[in-house]
Amino acid sequence: MNKKIKHGVLLAGGDGTRLRPFTYYTSKHLLPVHNKPMIFYPLMNLILLGVENVCLIINPKHESTWNQLLSNLKLPININLVRQEKPEGIPEAFPLCEKLINYSDHYLALGDNILIGSGILDKFKNLGEINPKHSIILGYPVKNPQEFGVAELNKNGEVTSIVEKPLNTKSNLAVVGLYKFTSEVFEFFKRITKSDRGEFEIVDILKLYLEKKKLSILNINNATDYWLDTGNIDSIISATNFLSKLSESKVVDIANIEKLFVNK
Ligand code: TTP
Repeated sequence: MNKKIKHGVLLAGGDGTRLRPFTYYTSKHLLPVHNKPMIFYPLMNLILLGVENVCLIINPKHESTWNQLLSNLKLPININLVRQEKPEGIPEAFPLCEKLINYSDHYLALGDNILIGSGILDKFKNLGEINPKHSIILGYPVKNPQEFGVAELNKNGEVTSIVEKPLNTKSNLAVVGLYKFTSEVFEFFKRITKSDRGEFEIVDILKLYLEKKKLSILNINNATDYWLDTGNIDSIISATNFLSKLSESKVVDIANIEKLFVNK
């Protein structure tokens, strides 16, 4: 029987330089996207994936604001705030959270990525259960793959390479912000070094999984599944417009953590 994944890591650190001046006084993840703080969307996905504990990586300068929000929510999971003193890249989450999550398999979500759809989380979870030793990534078809980490696949749909911001690639599959990692990742982290931009890079971790033939991808290709990045003001506005239109046409309120779990 497969072990249930109990832990989630949610990345909400960083400086958010593209969202200044807002990020001088708050975390970008607390800015509104449609009618909720941005962080509700990835947090809800971790809850729906069934995790019981979330390590929430934050920039310490916004700690009191995070506490104000969290103290008003009644969540069905535990959240541990983890301070990242300097934003040195997404993989820094591994050493920061390893003891809290007991060196176990976990999901990792980026706090500025919104993923919505029908059944996509179930498929992601199932693929992880079928391949318990694998890291699982999500591939989303984009028009501008040169701006992303891209997965190249063979004709059987297996990942053959992961390329960061490729100038030439036949693949249009961007690797987007939800991952499953196995406990092996804590050892892999020790083998990577910072890139030229001075950060640890998640693609370097994925390449180590690929070398060991332990990387599987789920393609998001259903017309009703969407991935939205909300890292700059234009993308926040278009995500807001998109979600607002969606809520007009359907009576589903996505990621409504507040209504579901708020302290009365
Ligand atoms: P980025 O968008 O790459 O970085 P950023 O949020 O600091 O923004 P900017 O580029 O405008 O300066 O980060 C992607 C996600 O990962 C985002 O949710 C923040 C998070 N993150 C961390 O938690 N720690 C880090 O060290 C980095 C680089 C990012």
